[in-house]
Amino acid sequence: MRILSGIQPSGALHLGNYFGMMRPAIELQEKGEAFYFIADYHSMTSLFDAKERRKNTLDVALDFLACGLDPERTVFFRQSDVPEVTELTWLLSTVVPVGMLERAHSYKDKIAKGLEPNGGLFTYPVLMAADILIYDSNVVPVGRDQKQHVEMTRDFATKFNERYGQTFVIPEPQIREEVAVVPGTDGQKMSKSYGNTIEIFGDEKATRKKIMGIVMDSRTPQQPKPDADKNIAIQLLKLVAPAEIGKDFENRLRAGGLGYGDLKKALFEHYWNYFAEARKKRAELAANLDHVNRVLADGAAKARAKAREVLKRARKNCGLE
Ligand code: TRP
Repeated sequence: MRILSGIQPSGALHLGNYFGMMRPAIELQEKGEAFYFIADYHSMTSLFDAKERRKNTLDVALDFLACGLDPERTVFFRQSDVPEVTELTWLLSTVVPVGMLERAHSYKDKIAKGLEPNGGLFTYPVLMAADILIYDSNVVPVGRDQKQHVEMTRDFATKFNERYGQTFVIPEPQIREEVAVVPGTDGQKMSKSYGNTIEIFGDEKATRKKIMGIVMDSRTPQQPKPDADKNIAIQLLKLVAPAEIGKDFENRLRAGGLGYGDLKKALFEHYWNYFAEARKKRAELAANLDHVNRVLADGAAKARAKAREVLKRARKNCGLE
């Protein structure tokens, strides 16, 4: 079974990314042959700074490797290191109904936000379909927001198969149910676009400040808080602290007598410890970029071998060879 997923290099990864996507992806490497890539081509639809793209791409690679992605087991690479995917995008685009692209939620959302769409944003789902189909992927773990894109992929693959004969494996989306709700510092879902994130590998002082700044209400420490389970710091603490400790803080907050400042201090300490080992690993990797680049190059070589095989099949079937 081949598992494939991609992540856009859009900046430092935060706790929402970690508990929502990275940890499940890293766990999935046990279940089959995982192909994970950094979607740098896709990032060009909305990030227009070359330096930033280069830095973000490296940051994502470091973050994933530090958090336990095992390159011996998982094929980990940069999307653009397999340029075959752009050729397949062209072949696929000839079976894609334009109306379907116009109805894509993520495209419509971006237009609704006032973004001036470029052609790449419009054909984003076709490149994504090529990403998936070019590795004969069986399972595509994604967040709910990407479900429609995987459904479109199935549709394009089916259309191509009908027109030119059996070519592509039809992939299954695997939608991550929100196992962990990760609230941001303001209580909304943690997301870069809300500016409420806590980075996985943030600077110590800045992160402490962010955590101490988590929004609370004005009840006094003594007051009992029957809604302690809804407290943002409690919810975050439960993710990064051992279960008994999370429960204990929740009970103390509920009973009254625990101040918000002390709760936040505890949250910071547990957050800092939770990622201590990964932080050390990340520093080692950052000091050995040759190794990181080698990992990505090895991953690309493996991915590329598979991509060439599938592209050849597609080219033959549609009469280019
Ligand atoms: N569109 C995905 C996102 O923004 C990233 C992505 C690109 C992807 N290609 C993919 C995800 C292929 C899964 C499979 O999250």
